[in-house]
Amino acid sequence: MSDLLKLETETLDAIARAGDEAALEAVRVAALGKKGTISALLATLGKMSPDERRTQGAAINVLKDKVGEALSARKAVLKEAALNARLASETLDVTLPVRENGTETGRLHPISQVVDELTAIFADMGFSIAEGPDIESDDYNFTKLNFPPGHPAREMHDTFFFAPDAAGERKLLRTHTSPVQVRTMLAHQRNKEEGPIRVICPGRTYRCDSDQTHTPMFHQVEGLIVDRSAHLGHLKWILEEFCKAFFEIDNVKMRFRPSFFPFTEPSMEVDIQCSRKGGEIRFGEGTDWLEILGCGMVHPNVLRNCGFDPDEYQGFAWGMGIDRIAMLKYGISDLRAMFEGDVRWLSHYGFKPLDVPTLAGGLSS
Ligand code: DAH
Repeated sequence: MSDLLKLETETLDAIARAGDEAALEAVRVAALGKKGTISALLATLGKMSPDERRTQGAAINVLKDKVGEALSARKAVLKEAALNARLASETLDVTLPVRENGTETGRLHPISQVVDELTAIFADMGFSIAEGPDIESDDYNFTKLNFPPGHPAREMHDTFFFAPDAAGERKLLRTHTSPVQVRTMLAHQRNKEEGPIRVICPGRTYRCDSDQTHTPMFHQVEGLIVDRSAHLGHLKWILEEFCKAFFEIDNVKMRFRPSFFPFTEPSMEVDIQCSRKGGEIRFGEGTDWLEILGCGMVHPNVLRNCGFDPDEYQGFAWGMGIDRIAMLKYGISDLRAMFEGDVRWLSHYGFKPLDVPTLAGGLSS
């Protein structure tokens, strides 16, 4: 057998035996690479006589082409085999459920949910939302609300005060949402707005108090109506309708007890009837009472302090703890856990962010 034929048989054999693309590449380099066997043969052509070169050259080139073709044919076979092996080993179960994204796994805090619920209910009654800053002046938090300087009612509020500023003014963290009443009435006057005031003011409030039922930061919602004829009958209707809608019950029984707030006269606290059977609070049944809010007719001094003539205008207001009504509605037992930022708590008590509460679609379903 000539050397060329031997080389051909050996190389084609090696190609046929190559088990994968890497082995095949090794065979290619050994034959056709710079230092490969066929390349070495081609390099000898230069030293041959013209006759020899013609016959040998043609034979070597035929060998080179044969090997080239065998390499690409084998390569195609190996490629397909590799692909088939991958297809067999990598499986995709298209019947598996789709992995949930953030809008499905994230949860809204019950406080945010309850604020959305309150807003839906009161917006339906024609209220707008008013807001004020958490850092408030003593004047708006107390004085304009008829807490004169030195009045003992200020002591009821366990206020967080800031150090006095350059002008000697001592700012504070608002102890209730009632200063938003002041801001709303003053803005109404300043902007010469027509018509009645009808707002709710949800927001954060602060008092230096901490135990199982108190946290230094908590939430309130304030309601305020001022016009020429607002009276307690309207207030009772609004609160009753609110409680029915919020607690999602057909009937509520409410009890108005005389109370004291400097900014209302008369002042009342409101209880709703409930049962506490088995430690669970249920509204619309039972013989127990549960206090949920304070309210009253806006004090003439407050109207006057905010630019309204109390002989011409009157109004009523109420203030309610959002955290408390959230706990009551959703059976949350520990107030402090609300603000610990524990994601396990949130995934248990939280709400789907895209289930926006509406009166038509349901508040909490
Ligand atoms: N601001 C009161 C508080 O924090 C709650 C309150 C009571 C607000 C009566 C009112 C009201 O607007 O009329 O204790």
